[in-house]
Amino acid sequence: MPKFHSLKVKEVRRETDGCVSVAFEVPESLKPEYRFIQGQHLTLKTELEGEEVRRSYSICASPFDDTLRVAIKKLEGGRFSTFANEKLQKGDSLDVMTPMGRFFTDLNPNNEKHYVAFAAGSGITPILSIMKAVLQREPKSEFTLFYGNQRVDTIIFREEIEGLKNEYMGRLSVFHVLSRELQGSELFSGRIDAEKCSAFCDKLVSPQQVDEYFLCGPESMIHEIRDTLTAMGVDKSKIHFELFIAGLNGKAQKKQKESRSVEASIQITLDGNTFEFPLASGSDTILEAAQKAGASLPFACKGGVCCTCRAKLLEGEVEMDVNYALEPEEVEAGYILTCQSHPKTDRVVVDFDS
Ligand code: FES
Repeated sequence: MPKFHSLKVKEVRRETDGCVSVAFEVPESLKPEYRFIQGQHLTLKTELEGEEVRRSYSICASPFDDTLRVAIKKLEGGRFSTFANEKLQKGDSLDVMTPMGRFFTDLNPNNEKHYVAFAAGSGITPILSIMKAVLQREPKSEFTLFYGNQRVDTIIFREEIEGLKNEYMGRLSVFHVLSRELQGSELFSGRIDAEKCSAFCDKLVSPQQVDEYFLCGPESMIHEIRDTLTAMGVDKSKIHFELFIAGLNGKAQKKQKESRSVEASIQITLDGNTFEFPLASGSDTILEAAQKAGASLPFACKGGVCCTCRAKLLEGEVEMDVNYALEPEEVEAGYILTCQSHPKTDRVVVDFDS
């Protein structure tokens, strides 16, 4: 079961103007719990202005480096990411959940695979972890990275990636794609989308000879690349993807259980506004039903991991499909993950402000 421990910040390193990476000190006794697999993420928790805030961020280190480090890109209005970019310092402590996530394939030193990754912006974070692990553990495998950013100065981990290219010469190919800075070639200017993906497959990789694809970036990019690759005949099982939404990536996680909701009337309070809507019996969660009713509720992963959709149940009963984010005391106190909750009574009252 995932668990929080308080870990000391070992280093806050500025990667770009809008992104830091944060390394943690892991005491010897906790090392087994913080052993991670390439591509996994950590949920961080702290108190900001008297309120608990938690967010998940992908690990950018390789599991073979003896480092636990995440990257945190500053988001507009992002409380945690702003705090991490502007205030967090070496020696501070944060509550860190044990690593989670399934964005990886098993490594084997005998593999002779070709991996191709498409990343945009901070979507590079889990990809960097995967890339380093593959290059370290699979000496006969090769890796091709297509990495989209606005400009050269917003490329996160630029130097580290250059270093890897030199270290693993011949096995790592990197193609930067910039949307707000002119490049010599049109092929590498613009956003990574369906058209670019087709062009890359035409000119730089043979899609049928690629063993695994890893995609991480905004939803639209992931869908476009995935659809383009499948239309070219790439088997879906070779395409692994993770959305980054507010630094959290749980959406790709499969629900372990699909509870059914009873027909109910739901009342929600958010930012002081109260609204009510019906939820038909079926498999919709409270969050899904609210979205269908036109409400805009906070959420990120929809996978029961990030806690963004947390609210307090004031009346009625619900059942959650999975819960990787709430502590037993919170559940005890009536908190629920609305992205995982199904009503069990005909009236449910939920408060996001509590
Ligand atoms: S949206 Fe992440 S736990 Fe519900």
